[in-house]
Amino acid sequence: MIIALFGPPGSGKGTQAKFLIKNLNIPQLSTGDMLRESIRGGTSTGLEAKKFMDQGKLVPDEVMIGLIRDRIALQDCKNGFLLDGFPRTVAQAQALDDMFDSASLKLDHVISLLVSRKELVGRLSGRLVCSKCGASFHEISKPTKLAGICDVCGADVSKRADDRAEVVEARLETFTASTKPVEEYYRAKGKLREVDAQGSEMQVYQRITSVFGGALKG
Ligand code: AP5
Repeated sequence: MIIALFGPPGSGKGTQAKFLIKNLNIPQLSTGDMLRESIRGGTSTGLEAKKFMDQGKLVPDEVMIGLIRDRIALQDCKNGFLLDGFPRTVAQAQALDDMFDSASLKLDHVISLLVSRKELVGRLSGRLVCSKCGASFHEISKPTKLAGICDVCGADVSKRADDRAEVVEARLETFTASTKPVEEYYRAKGKLREVDAQGSEMQVYQRITSVFGGALKG
């Protein structure tokens, strides 16, 4: 199974990806996580990417396409994988098609998560992320049991650098201008599955699983 989770910042891609990869036993290929890992590691890719991420802009296509090409080639992707945050431009979608064609692979579904702008801003402004395991919380709707401490692994939780109000606005604009057209690209190919992504995490997950027509456990 090869799936892409598509949606604006804060639509719940990372949250739903965690449920899906457990159920399907496939790896999560989150380009945002890969970039943040490169930044932490101080690599040249990370330093270059940070300039774009801090402004809510997209990292150039050639960097992202190279990252995904290398990642898909690894052994753990042999039985499928879940793309989280890629493709984000039509050029990335076309490059992915080329990669899949040359490897005789097929993208099964593109799940598009639909959330209102007001809800997106509310989710991102209160998001807290674990520095160690990446678990996501929210100051109001999903607070940690102990303030500042991850419920899952006990490490510190904090706000993401790009969740500042001005960067959130820029990310939402970037989504509309550069990423939204990817939806049409997949709709035209008959691969787009739109899911109402408001409501509880479990309600959203159940709507996603229903797209698979019972191929997933609920
Ligand atoms: P990335 O890390 O991918 O960020 P994003 O797309 O902006 O998405 P987020 O991680 O902010 O949100 P999400 O949809 O995963 O939501 P989440 O589950 O966390 O990318 C960061 C940057 O990297 C980009 O801006 C860009 O610069 C660069 N980049 C990455 N990929 C790239 C690419 N392919 N090309 C170019 N550049 C690229 O949930 C958010 C919050 O909501 C959490 O607090 C969560 O607890 C809460 N929540 C989740 N579900 C629900 C629910 N159902 N109800 C209530 N709250 C919920």
